[in-house]
Amino acid sequence: MPDVFVTQENPVPGERPTEPAAKTPAQKPRRQRGTRIPARVQIMGWLVLVMTAGLATVVVLVAEFEYRAIDQRVNSGLAQDSQEFRQFAAAGTDPATGEAVADTWDLFDRHLSSQYPDRAEVLLGIEAAGEGNFNSLQQADESLRHVQLDDQVLSRIVEAPQTSGTVDTTAGELRWLRVDVLPRGGGDQPNAWFVSGYFVDEARSEANDTVRTLAVISMVALVLAAGVSWIVAGQILAPVNTVRKAAARLTEADLTRRIRVQGRDDIAALADQFNSMLDRLERAFDTRRQFLDDAGHELRTPITIVRGHLELMGDDPEERAEVVRLCTDELDRMARIVDDLLLLAKAEQPDFVRPEWTSVPELTSDIDAKVRAIAPRAWSLEAMGEGDAHVDAQRVTQAMVQLAQNAVQHTQPGAAIRIGSSIGPETVSFWVTDSGPGLSPGDEARIFDRFVRGESGARDGTGAGLGLAIVKAIAVAHHGEVRVLSQPGQGATFGFELPLRGGEE
Ligand SMILES: Nc1ncnc2c1ncn2[C@@H]1O[C@H](COP(=O)(O)OP(=O)(O)OP(=O)(O)O)[C@@H](O)[C@H]1O
Ligand SMILES: [Mg+2]
Repeated sequence: MPDVFVTQENPVPGERPTEPAAKTPAQKPRRQRGTRIPARVQIMGWLVLVMTAGLATVVVLVAEFEYRAIDQRVNSGLAQDSQEFRQFAAAGTDPATGEAVADTWDLFDRHLSSQYPDRAEVLLGIEAAGEGNFNSLQQADESLRHVQLDDQVLSRIVEAPQTSGTVDTTAGELRWLRVDVLPRGGGDQPNAWFVSGYFVDEARSEANDTVRTLAVISMVALVLAAGVSWIVAGQILAPVNTVRKAAARLTEADLTRRIRVQGRDDIAALADQFNSMLDRLERAFDTRRQFLDDAGHELRTPITIVRGHLELMGDDPEERAEVVRLCTDELDRMARIVDDLLLLAKAEQPDFVRPEWTSVPELTSDIDAKVRAIAPRAWSLEAMGEGDAHVDAQRVTQAMVQLAQNAVQHTQPGAAIRIGSSIGPETVSFWVTDSGPGLSPGDEARIFDRFVRGESGARDGTGAGLGLAIVKAIAVAHHGEVRVLSQPGQGATFGFELPLRGGEE
C-alpha cells in the first residue's frame, strides 16, 4: 500500500512551455508556437485528467482506510485474547469450577474450552514436545475446523524473537500474537505458548471488493464525463468553427456571407464582432472599388479629349498651335490628378505628416504670401493666432493652398478673399473665406469625399474633386477635423481645426 498519494506531474495535453517571443525584424518569422490539438480534445483531455486524479485519490484513500480499519480490528481482538489468557493464568484456578489448574496443558485446555473465537480467529495452546515437534490444543471458529497448523508453522511462531507477526499457512496469511508461558518449577526459557491468531485474507478480500467496486464506478463515471464533455465542448465550440469556416470561405470577391448569431454568450459576441468586422471590410472594399472606378474615369476623360483633338488636327499652323495648347492643358490636368491621387494614397501611411513645433504667426504669413501668388484677388489676412502648434507646416500650407485655389475658382478677379488662423485652448484653426456663390444646400456633407464636385462646381469645370479630400486627409492625419460654413450666394468659409499638440505623445 503506498503511503504517499497523488503526486501528479502529468504532462498537460498539448501544452508546451511558453517562451517570450523575441522576434526582431531581421529574424526569419518563426514557426507558429502553440498546440495543434483541437480545442475540443483539449477541453475533454483536461476534464478527464482532473477527474482521473480526483477519483484515483478517492480510491486510494478509501483502500487505505479500509485496510487500516481491518488491521485495527484484528490487533485489538488479538490483544484482548492474550489479555484474557494472562488473567486466567494469573488466577491459577478455573473460574467455572473453582478447581486449581494442574499444569500448563490443563491451563490451555480449561482456558480454550471456555473461549468462543470470532470468525477467522484461532486460539492455540502449544507445548514443546522435543526435536522440533509440538503438542498443540486449538480452539477455532466453525469455518476453520478443518484447518490444522503444522509443526513448521508452529515453530516459526514460537521461535520468532518478537511476540507478534504474520506467517503464511495453507489457509492463508495468519496474523498472530504470542504469550510465552514459563515453566512452573522455575527457569526463564518458555516451554509453552499461548497464541491468538487471525486469518486476514477473508477480511482483506472484502475490503478489496469494496475498493474494486469503487474503482469500477469511478471508471464508468470517467467514461461518462468524457463523453458528456466531448458533446458539450462540441456544442460550445460549434460557433467558433462556423466563424473559422466562414473566414476560410471569404474572398475579396464575396464578402457578403455572415454568421448566424445564436444566444447571448461570449461566443455569440465573437460571431457578432466577426460580422461587424465583415461589414467594415465590405465597406472598405466597396470604397476602394469605387475609388478605382472614379480614378479610371477621371483619367480617361483627358485621354479622350487629347485623342479627339489629335485625330481632328488639320494642317493650319494656327490650329495646330491651338491643339498643342489644349492637349498640354489636358495633360497638365492629368498630371495634377495623378499627383493628387498619389498624395491621397500616401495619406494612408503613418509618416504622411511629420509634426514639429511651429510658430503659427510665421506659418500664417508664409501661407498668406504664397496664396497671393495664385491669382489676382483682394487678398487680406484676417487674423493670426499667437503661439506655437505641433503641426506639419508643409502639409498645413498644402491644405490652405487647396482651399485658396477653390476660393479663387469660385470668385471673379478682384473679389475679396480672407485667410486667417487662430489658437484656442486646445486647438489651432486655419481658414479661407471667399465672397463667391457659396455651397448648394446639402453639399457640405459630401464635398470632402474623393471625386465629389458640388452642384455649383468650379467656374472653369476642370476640377477633379480631389482638393477637399486632400484637405480632409491632412486634417485627419493631424487628428483634426475639417470645417465649412456657407450660405448660398453669401460666400463660404472652409477651414480645419487641429489639436495644438496633435502629433505629440
Ligand atoms: N470656395 C468654394 N465655394 C463654393 N464651392 C466650393 C468651394 N470650394 C469647393 N467647393 C465645392 O466643392 C467641390 C469639391 O471641391 P474640391 O476642391 O474637392 O474639388 P475641385 O476643386 O472641383 O477639384 P480639384 O480641387 O481636384 O481640382 C467643388 O467642386 C465645389 O463644388
Ligand atoms: Mg479644389
